[in-house]
Amino acid sequence: MEFQQVVDRRRMIRNYAERPVEPGVVERALRNATRAPSAGFSQGWAFVLLDQPDDVRRYWESATPPEQLAAPDRWLSGMLRAPVVVIPCSSKSAYLDRYAEPDKGWANRDDSHWPVPYWHMDTAMASLLILQTVVDEGLGALFFGIPVDRLGEVRREFAIPDTHDPIGAITIGHLADDAGLPGSASTRRRVPLDDLVHRGGWGR
Ligand SMILES: Cc1cc2nc3c(=O)[nH]c(=O)nc-3n(C[C@H](O)[C@H](O)[C@H](O)COP(=O)(O)O)c2cc1C
Repeated sequence: MEFQQVVDRRRMIRNYAERPVEPGVVERALRNATRAPSAGFSQGWAFVLLDQPDDVRRYWESATPPEQLAAPDRWLSGMLRAPVVVIPCSSKSAYLDRYAEPDKGWANRDDSHWPVPYWHMDTAMASLLILQTVVDEGLGALFFGIPVDRLGEVRREFAIPDTHDPIGAITIGHLADDAGLPGSASTRRRVPLDDLVHRGGWGR
């Protein structure tokens, strides 16, 4: 697929076919994720790959209140069919370690050095590469949030160490015939480029 087609066609998929995903697709998506840029080449990301039915079930059990799992709504029903869940995790400590090295020199590991949390940024960029690769393979994916009150449960279930924080989760699968639930993009307009690009500065 042409790069522009991948960009134009990517949209979040919330309804999946009951059909396995070829392992090569997921491997390619994860390999591409590691081609993302990262500050100081810190590569402070990690990915929990859940591609076995039991593991995917453990994800939903840990991330969902039991009463919701017992009576899934449309969103959850569509999502439960996704055969693959990836949990991208960012590691702040990897950045603190990397930037304490002599060529960076922030040995005091002070938070004030960081204009924004690069660890989350870089893991988000890696996540976009996963989404784009999945589109290029003709499949669908959704990046979605893990509810705050279930984060501890998800961490415990998958033994995610304290050095790493899940930034969300990504489902991957073949698209169901019915596109399923549209997200916010169906009710909100895309903001025109001219409202977003401040050529030569803001308000000029
Ligand atoms: C950080 C982030 C969190 C999101 N969380 C959810 C979510 O919890 N549930 C969901 O259905 N979609 C979620 N989305 C998908 C957005 O709703 C979607 O990207 C947006 O409406 C634009 O639509 P599109 O990606 O299909 O173009 C999330 C997207 C991002 C980037």
